[in-house]
Amino acid sequence: MTTLPDEIPAFGFELHATDGMARRGTVTTAHGAIRTPAFMPVGTQATVKTMYPEQVRALGADVVLGNTYHLMLRPGAERVASLGGLHTFMNWPHPILTDSGGFQVMSLSKLRKVTEKAVTFQSHLDGRRYELSPERSLEIQGLLGSNIQMQLDECVSLPNTRPEIDRAMRLSLRWAERSKRAFFGKRGHGIFGIVQGGDLEDLRLESAKGLVDIGFDGYALGGLAVGEPQEVMLRVIQATTPALPADRPRYLMGVGTPDDLIESVARGIDMFDCVMPTRAGRHGLAYTRRGKVNLRNARHADDPRPLDEESDCPAARDYSRAYLHHLVRTGEALGAMLLTWVNLAYYQDLMAGIRRSIEEGRFEAHKAEVKAGWAAGDI
Ligand code: GUN
Repeated sequence: MTTLPDEIPAFGFELHATDGMARRGTVTTAHGAIRTPAFMPVGTQATVKTMYPEQVRALGADVVLGNTYHLMLRPGAERVASLGGLHTFMNWPHPILTDSGGFQVMSLSKLRKVTEKAVTFQSHLDGRRYELSPERSLEIQGLLGSNIQMQLDECVSLPNTRPEIDRAMRLSLRWAERSKRAFFGKRGHGIFGIVQGGDLEDLRLESAKGLVDIGFDGYALGGLAVGEPQEVMLRVIQATTPALPADRPRYLMGVGTPDDLIESVARGIDMFDCVMPTRAGRHGLAYTRRGKVNLRNARHADDPRPLDEESDCPAARDYSRAYLHHLVRTGEALGAMLLTWVNLAYYQDLMAGIRRSIEEGRFEAHKAEVKAGWAAGDI
C-alpha cells in the first residue's frame, strides 16, 4: 500500500491530563506517536548499545535518540540519506530525535573553537577538521530524517561565571534563530529550541522568552546535569517551565537518574534522554524498584535469586544474581546485554507508571510510593 502525503500526520502535541505541574500528553510525528512523559533510550551510533531495536520497542520505548556529531563523522549524513535515512538504516521505523552536535563537540572533540558562525573542531576519530554551523547541523538532521531536530546551542559546565553563562546563552539564542530558518519543515517533523542560562534564573527566563518569540515545536532545557547538585537543577526547572507554552512539549536533555526523572516530571517536564541506564548496564549496575544494585559486588556470587522476581523483564526475572555477577566479572557480552535490558525495562516501566498515575490524578502519591521503594533498598 502506498502512503499518500496527507496520511502523514502533522507534527503536534496534545495534552491529555495534568496533575499539579505533571503532564500526560502525546507528541505526534510522521513515524508515530510518543506518549509523554517519555524516556528516550540513547542510540548515539545508530544503535542502542547491546539491544536489538525490536527489543527496545517491546519495552515500550516510543522514540530513540541519535547524535549528529557521531553520525556526521561516521558513517556520514549523506551516506545515511542515500541508504534511505536513519529509520531505515538502523531498522527503527518509529520516531527518532537527534541532538544537534554542539554538546558532543564540547565533550568529545579536540581543538574546538566557537565563533559566531560555527563551532570548528578536530574529530576524535581521525583528527580531521570539521565545521558545524546551525545551518549544517539542521542539514545533517534533515539528511538523517530525524523527526525531532534540535537547534545548535552552546552548553557551559557548572559552576561558571555569569559573563560566561550569559555569553553562551545569547549565542545559543542567535543560533536558535538561524537553526529555525535552516530547518526544512517536512510534514511530521519538528524542531525544538534549547533554553540555556546555567543556574541563573533571570538568564533562563530571558532565554525561554527569546525562544518562544522565535517559535518552536517544542522546548528543551539544556545545560543541566553538568556538575550542579540536584536541588539546583530542580530549582532551575521549576523556574523555567512556567515560562514555556503549555501546548508544546518540554524536554530535559541528558537527564538522569530515576529520581531526577520523577522529580522533573513533578516540575512540568515531558521528555528525557540519558545514557545512564545503558551505560550503567555495561558497567555491571542494575536499576530496580529497590534502587541501584552493583552486580560486581562479591555479595552476589552465591545468590540464586533474580534481581526482581516480580518484573515482566526476563533479564530481571529469570537469571540469578550469581550468574549476572559471573558474567559481569568475566566481562562477557551477555552481562552487558542482560543488565542494559534490565535497566531500560525499569526506566520504561517507571515512565509507564508515571503516565498512568497522572491520568488517574494520583501522581504525588505514586511518586511517594516509588521513592519509598528505592529508599527501602535492595534485599
Ligand atoms: N545534552 C545534554 N545537555 C545538552 C545541552 O545543553 N545541549 C545539547 N544540545 N545537548 C545536550
